[in-house]
Amino acid sequence: MSLQRFPGFIDAHVHLREPGATHKEDFYTGSRAAIAGGFTFVIDMPNNPIPTITKERLEEKINLAKKALCDVGFYFGTDGKNMNEFSKVWNLPQVFGLKVYCSHTTGDLLIEDEQTLKEIFSSWNSEKPILVHAEKDRLMMALKLAEKFSRRLHVCHISLKEEVEMVREVKQRGQKVTAGVTPHHLYFSRGPGIFLLKGYGEMKPPIGTKDDQKALWQALKDGTIDIVETDHAPHTKEEKEKDSPFFGVPGLETAVGLMFKAVKDGRITIADVLKYLNTNPRKIFNIPEQLDTFVELDSEKEYLVGKIGYETKCGWSPFEGMNFFGKPETVVFRGKKLLEGGKIIN
Ligand code: NCD
Ligand code: ZN
Ligand code: ZN
Repeated sequence: MSLQRFPGFIDAHVHLREPGATHKEDFYTGSRAAIAGGFTFVIDMPNNPIPTITKERLEEKINLAKKALCDVGFYFGTDGKNMNEFSKVWNLPQVFGLKVYCSHTTGDLLIEDEQTLKEIFSSWNSEKPILVHAEKDRLMMALKLAEKFSRRLHVCHISLKEEVEMVREVKQRGQKVTAGVTPHHLYFSRGPGIFLLKGYGEMKPPIGTKDDQKALWQALKDGTIDIVETDHAPHTKEEKEKDSPFFGVPGLETAVGLMFKAVKDGRITIADVLKYLNTNPRKIFNIPEQLDTFVELDSEKEYLVGKIGYETKCGWSPFEGMNFFGKPETVVFRGKKLLEGGKIIN
């Protein structure tokens, strides 16, 4: 077995659920999942039950995250009424952007009204990007507002061909837009596989068609999509087995293995993996260098997802039973070994 060394991977989109939903995940278990998955830097979303929309709430989160094994950054949230808080937080080193929910998903932060969106985009007067969950025509609106107010925009978890085309078009015109795609949108398409997953295959945005999936891989290759972000969104098995399952799937422990499977399948190169999971997110979110931090794995070595269980508190994966490649074997974080032989040793 020959181990290759990579810098710690970065996941710019996770929901570690603390405070308020620690039956699903918390900063400790979520960061264990991150380390087991080869991620040493993650950025947490603000859609907690009591959302991260005041400086006070943000400080509480920063404090709670001290128990994490890896570095955790944060996005500030907005309910459309907290614009006076923006300037109190945008210069904090722990804040990496503003998250705006333009389409319906987990949590209460949905902004439906265009006028309010306008005020939000106008008020976030920072070099740090605005991130949007914006599907279809909502994405078009976000792109226009970002252009109007000259804001950097990051399009989260892009999932449809039509969205890829919108982003490609504005990028070609020189607009400062970046986009991310999740491993599940890359791997699944609407069909028997995803239906078998039942509630475990329900997430926002929903899985697209084969055509959408093809467009996502193409966009990743041609640079329309800049990063792979897991959107690690743990919910309990009970919550996923309800008649109306909660939206979201965990992803921290499987993203790297899926990317090396894509290498094995000849879709992308090892250099691409580094770009999508380290250099590009580092550039987009201006993430500081992590000294003495690296991951080792054998990108040729196959493994069965779920065989040794999971670190995430939710304890399942939509990829369970699949064969991926390059499971992280070693993680050294700021000079300290946290993963050895694929197991956390903290
Ligand atoms: C996320 C969650 O559960 O917090 N759910 C999801 O389906 N992706 C929220 C989100 O990213 O939209
Ligand atoms: Zn979302
Ligand atoms: Zn998310």
